[in-house]
Amino acid sequence: MAWNERHFLSIDDLDKSDVLALLKRASAFLDIGDEYVTDAPLNEKIVANLFLENSTRTRCSFAIATKRLGGDPIDLLGSTSSASKGESLVDTALNLEAMGVSGIVIRCSEDGGPKQVAGEVAVPVVNAGDGISGHPTQALLDSLTLTRYFGTEDLDGCNIAIVGDIAHSRVARSNVQCLSKLGATVTLVGPEELLPTDIDCECTTAFDDVLATTDCVMILRVQFERDAKVGDDYRANFGLTEERAKNYEGAIMHPGPINRGLEMDDSVANIDSSPHNLILSQVTSGVAARMAVLEHLIG
Ligand code: CP
Repeated sequence: MAWNERHFLSIDDLDKSDVLALLKRASAFLDIGDEYVTDAPLNEKIVANLFLENSTRTRCSFAIATKRLGGDPIDLLGSTSSASKGESLVDTALNLEAMGVSGIVIRCSEDGGPKQVAGEVAVPVVNAGDGISGHPTQALLDSLTLTRYFGTEDLDGCNIAIVGDIAHSRVARSNVQCLSKLGATVTLVGPEELLPTDIDCECTTAFDDVLATTDCVMILRVQFERDAKVGDDYRANFGLTEERAKNYEGAIMHPGPINRGLEMDDSVANIDSSPHNLILSQVTSGVAARMAVLEHLIG
């Protein structure tokens, strides 16, 4: 692997061969299922999960990935940390480092927060989602899910649509970088007001036209907590409704959490709705993808 950064901050820091190497390793971890890695590459290593924004999937999967690699995860959450008393992100990270952790996984609402911390600490830093900027391990797990689904090494020639609240989405930003590196053609779909102005990618409001030709739809959550506004016609125009899903045979993804009944109908979100529903496969892939990253950086 050419990637020799001490940190995992952005997909942009990797070239295609780095992504492929991480996917190959993650795929091997996926194959061993729920087992612990026998040579325990994180033995006697403590990995701090510093999560200043809420999370279910990312936080738990980093903790499980650390344990499967033989390490010890510790959690520091925004609501129970001294960040709630005004301590800065960098000060919080410096204190964790002073206690002897071997790596820090960071989720925060500040764009560039993990990068700022990486400039101040000696231990590896992993970006677990910063503001609307990036969520690189989500992109890695999404590509792992897709390459396993298609049975391919990369995504050359695939058409992938990312649909919904793109403007507020760090998942979309990292996925555009990762999917494009792997050879996919990405189209961003959403209402004008939720399409981005800062992502170099084809954008459209014509969901049904895109759906007719795409190999995969990644539906995104409308991020009301970031002040996203949608009209009453959002579901009709941009929701993956039961009606739309009935005539669609491509892969269906969602990074979660899902606003059921808005961006995706209840029946479509249910895992038994279709063999092409990959939503929980994404979650399983998340542990393996994070194992690959932690092993590379800390193991
Ligand atoms: N996909 C994702 O980042 O989910 P969480 O916010 O639950 O971690």
